Amino acid sequence: MNAPFDYEYLDSGDGARLERFGEYLLARPAPVAIWRPGRPRALWREAHATFSHGTSGGGGWTFNRPVPDRFEVRWRDVAFELRLSGLGHLGIFPEQAPNWEWLRTLVSAADRPLKLLNLFAYTGGTTLAVAAALAEAGHLRAPAGRKSPASDICHVDAVRSVVRWASENATHCGLNDAGLRWIVEDAHKYVQNEIRRERRYDLIVLDPPTFGRGRQGQVFKLERDLAALLDDCFALLSREPLGFLLTCHTPGIVAPALANLLAPLLASRGGQLECGDSLQTSPEAPLPLPCGVFARWRARSS
Ligand SMILES: C[S@@+](CC[C@H](N)C(=O)[O-])C[C@H]1O[C@@H](n2cnc3c(N)ncnc32)[C@H](O)[C@@H]1O
Repeated sequence: MNAPFDYEYLDSGDGARLERFGEYLLARPAPVAIWRPGRPRALWREAHATFSHGTSGGGGWTFNRPVPDRFEVRWRDVAFELRLSGLGHLGIFPEQAPNWEWLRTLVSAADRPLKLLNLFAYTGGTTLAVAAALAEAGHLRAPAGRKSPASDICHVDAVRSVVRWASENATHCGLNDAGLRWIVEDAHKYVQNEIRRERRYDLIVLDPPTFGRGRQGQVFKLERDLAALLDDCFALLSREPLGFLLTCHTPGIVAPALANLLAPLLASRGGQLECGDSLQTSPEAPLPLPCGVFARWRARSS
């Protein structure tokens, strides 16, 4: 059975995707969707709003029916506040939901407090999925009589406004606890600082962009910089790690390439490595929508 999610992927084609977020039907660009839509045009015309790219970059929403400035969508017990941004983003990447389930299963099976490092963490989907699983298992908060939090969840993104948005999401669903740390910093710089501080993490998650900028303008180019960042992330794994998740949405990067990037983990620590396409599917949608690739490593004992 699919986890309760107030979201549905409905169709894709002609360079766009049609989705329901809460009660709002939205059409957004999906350049990979080079096929014809699988569902009738009439359904697409029901969209509350459609995002289109402008001819000189940027773009905007065209409204057919009103959509509030902010509205909520829930995945399990996690609430996300969504906003229609000027870039066509909403504050959630619903295609990450299968990874959130994978993390949840891992965390529940471990049944112990954990240290998570979430890099390029955006508005907190993964951070909150792990925090919720830890809270459910009774491992997020400090045990009675102890000051230090049980778990340590570290959320890193270079953009202050998205980190604030993530923290507000956490507060909204009652998870913004002492165990969550909100860091506005360049991902690689933060990893290097954590190595110097001799911190260790049981679970590391990265969803790097094709191109990004750190807090002081540091340029991140996935094809040039990812391998070095991963080398440093591997050095941050604890003695008893749980897993490692790498996702990517860069055109031309295929799943075995991500698996090759994580192969050193398999060689040095054993465990299991899997990779694949992140596919958006739904009983309502006749055609799956490819949304990037993933590679996941889980330790032997997890
Ligand atoms: C693809 S989004 C991540 C989506 C997120 N994992 C999720 O599922 O909600 C990429 C994020 O990387 C951040 N970013 C880009 N360059 C960065 C850098 N050098 N250091 C830290 N964060 C960066 C952006 O601000 C953006 O929030």
